[in-house]
Amino acid sequence: MLRATLLVSFFLCSAALADDDLAAMADGEGKDFVYLLCADCHSMQHVLEKRYTRGGWRGAIERMTVDFGMAELEADEHREVLDYLANNYGPNSTR
Ligand code: HEC
Repeated sequence: MLRATLLVSFFLCSAALADDDLAAMADGEGKDFVYLLCADCHSMQHVLEKRYTRGGWRGAIERMTVDFGMAELEADEHREVLDYLANNYGPNSTR
C-alpha cells in the first residue's frame, strides 16, 4: 500500500515539477519545442538560470549534442531553439 502511495505521489510530484518548469519559461515561438527537447534530461532551471550570448547558446546546444547525446537538430529546428534561447536568455535579458 505504501509503495503504491509513494508511486502515485511520485508521479503527481514529477508532473507538478514539469509544469513549473514550463510555466517558468518565457513565452515565445519555440517555447514548447525547447521544453520538450531540453527538459528530457534535466530541469529547465539548468537552462533558464543561464545568460549566454547567441554564440554561447550555440555552444551549449553543441555540448548537449556532442557530449551528452542529445538528438541532432535539423537546421530549422536548430534556428528555432537558438532564436528562443538567445532572444529570451541573452546577456541583456531582464528576466
Ligand atoms: C541527452 C541529454 C540532454 C539533453 C537533451 C539536454 N541536455 Fe543540457 N545537460 C545535459 C547534461 C548531462 C548536463 C551536465 C550535467 C548537469 O549539469 O546536470 C547538461 C547541462 C546543461 C547546461 C549547464 C552546463 C553548460 O554546459 O552550460 C546547460 C545550460 C544546458 N544543459 C542546456 C541545455 C539546453 C538548452 C538543452 C536543449 C536544447 C539541453 N541542455 C538538452 C544533458 C542534456
